[in-house]
Amino acid sequence: MELKGLILSGGAGTRLRPITHTSAKQLVPVANKPILFYGIESLKNAGVQEIGIIVGDTEEEIREAVGDGSAWGVNVSYIHQEAPLGLAHAVLTAADFLGDSAFVMYLGDNLIKEGIAGFVEEFRQKECDAMILLAHVSEPERFGVARLEGNRVVELVEKPKQPQSDLALVGAYMFKPCIMEAARAIKPSWRSELEITDAIQHLIDNGFKVEAHIIAGWWKDTGHLEDLLEANRIVLEDIMPSCQGSVDEASKLDGRVIIEEGAEIIRSAIRGPAIIGKDSKIIDSYIGPFTSIYYGVTVVGSELEHSIVMENSSIENIAGRIEDSLIGKNVEISKSSVRPKSFHFVLGDNSTVGLF
Ligand code: TTP
Repeated sequence: MELKGLILSGGAGTRLRPITHTSAKQLVPVANKPILFYGIESLKNAGVQEIGIIVGDTEEEIREAVGDGSAWGVNVSYIHQEAPLGLAHAVLTAADFLGDSAFVMYLGDNLIKEGIAGFVEEFRQKECDAMILLAHVSEPERFGVARLEGNRVVELVEKPKQPQSDLALVGAYMFKPCIMEAARAIKPSWRSELEITDAIQHLIDNGFKVEAHIIAGWWKDTGHLEDLLEANRIVLEDIMPSCQGSVDEASKLDGRVIIEEGAEIIRSAIRGPAIIGKDSKIIDSYIGPFTSIYYGVTVVGSELEHSIVMENSSIENIAGRIEDSLIGKNVEISKSSVRPKSFHFVLGDNSTVGLF
């Protein structure tokens, strides 16, 4: 069965403001790789060759990062969604691209550690119209929840007050073309979105066969800062140490640390798991566990831990440790080292800075 891939990379990203005022949340790096790239790799590993990416306001940036897909050996095309009107609206927007193919829909801000090859393979072998991916969770009331009879899905409820199971929807779905009809039949929800859960429920109510595939491994919807930092932590836990940059004699690396090409570590301590990106400079500083420093970053006289710093930012002479932080691109945080000593910030709209 030829299967296409549809990655959703539009959306508003309200939960990750201010980063998402100017940038795509799907391009935030986790262990120095944009989240979206993990999704493309998952599809590629599941044997999907034709991938359509749904894009919105951040189309330019996503096109520039992903290109035509040749870096992964896949064909990528772009589908513009006029506004983030829901996951089922995204499916309708992709009607021309999808034609009459079955397809896998993947949410571009999700990370699924074991990938989706097993899920896609099960769908290829079964006679069903749709297949959803589920995982056992401890707080089902926060998720879309499925009720099953055997392997068959009988009901989907968004954020139920009294969950009928602990099985939450994970961000990947398999569909046959009948989903188009269902997406056309439903009405927008209270939040004015065409919900994919309503479209799937419509399939169930009309006698289509919807099955479930349950995963045991770790997965994350990285819509919130805490989830993004957790994703970074989980991915960093599996890195293999390597050094392509330079580390001077006065510096010390502990544990699993990756130093990318052109990075310089001068009179500093890096305690892994951590990754220092291409051409970044760490001078007279401490970088603690679970920190990812992307490319072109400068850290001078500062301490950072359990954080993500995006490209071309600089952090200089900050007293106290920076923790649990996401620092965007081209951000400058500094304290002048001459009197009068003061902090200097260049921060985007709605930034949060805590000082003592
Ligand atoms: P969500 O995280 O559900 O929505 P969002 O990106 O608008 O974020 P927030 O709730 O913080 O405002 O979206 C899941 C993925 O699907 C994400 O990668 C964005 C994408 N998406 C679209 O491409 N089109 C849409 O209409 C919607 C709602 C989401």
